[in-house]
Amino acid sequence: MTAERIDGKAFAALLRERVGALAGQFEQKAGRKAGLAVVLVGEDPASQVYVRSKHKATVAAGMESFEHRLPVDTSEADLLALVEQLNADDAVDGILVQLPLPDHLDEQSVIASISPDKDVDGFHVTNAGRLAVGQNGFVPCTPLGCMMLLTDRLGDLSGLEAVVIGRSNIVGKPMAQLLLDANATVTIAHSRTKDLPSVVKRADIVVAAVGRAEMVKAEWLKEGATVIDVGINRLPPAEGEEKGRLVGDVDYAGAEGIAAAITPVPGGVGPMTIAVLLRNTLVAAHRNAGLEVPQSL
Ligand code: GUN
Repeated sequence: MTAERIDGKAFAALLRERVGALAGQFEQKAGRKAGLAVVLVGEDPASQVYVRSKHKATVAAGMESFEHRLPVDTSEADLLALVEQLNADDAVDGILVQLPLPDHLDEQSVIASISPDKDVDGFHVTNAGRLAVGQNGFVPCTPLGCMMLLTDRLGDLSGLEAVVIGRSNIVGKPMAQLLLDANATVTIAHSRTKDLPSVVKRADIVVAAVGRAEMVKAEWLKEGATVIDVGINRLPPAEGEEKGRLVGDVDYAGAEGIAAAITPVPGGVGPMTIAVLLRNTLVAAHRNAGLEVPQSL
């Protein structure tokens, strides 16, 4: 058996198209475009790439992109003042402060300063709490994207055994909440889990989000499992390579012979994150404008 490759890139392209169409309808109804503000402090090269991609995708979806690039030595007071200004700006529906921040800035204080109703990253404790108790808030983009891929493929997840490997606030914990809401039986595994292979063995759904190259071995998987690989790890360059290959947290080549379906790296979960960010921003725009959120979002 060769596992089906879950094409996150194609799924994300369709989602961006749908968001683009609905963004046009939003503009008609609201008399303005939906707006996303992205704040980047410093010049971290990976963050610069992400921020540029977010800007391009936002504009391509027919939404307004407000980019704020601040010097690396920006004070916390200045950053908080900018967030306050964006909180109060009616043209801004979503606010994203790109992480990681330089060491002298406290990420938790900065996230806490974002209005929960503009927190399209879903990182604010209010949104984490809303997710925990089943209220409408904003769900972090990566786990929500994983969930979309899972339900697209599997439909009803009721009663399925799901194992999430990794317990970060950004992926593992919200992922587990979403799976629980969908009536899966959920286990969160992490670096202290005893006998991880046997925990993974019982899973119908495996979500790997640990950030360690090819840590999850093919022989750990149950035959027919659905595997979502959130990891993006660069291997050391092999002979003749300038840069090492990008791989996930799962041994893809081995898993292909055992799983029913698996997301590739790259081209799986990665492209979903920005598409979901646009989706969350358009949801925020509808709520902020007092308009009903379209079902198809
Ligand atoms: N840095 C890497 N991914 C993300 C993300 O999804 N949101 C924010 N704010 N920063 C990030």
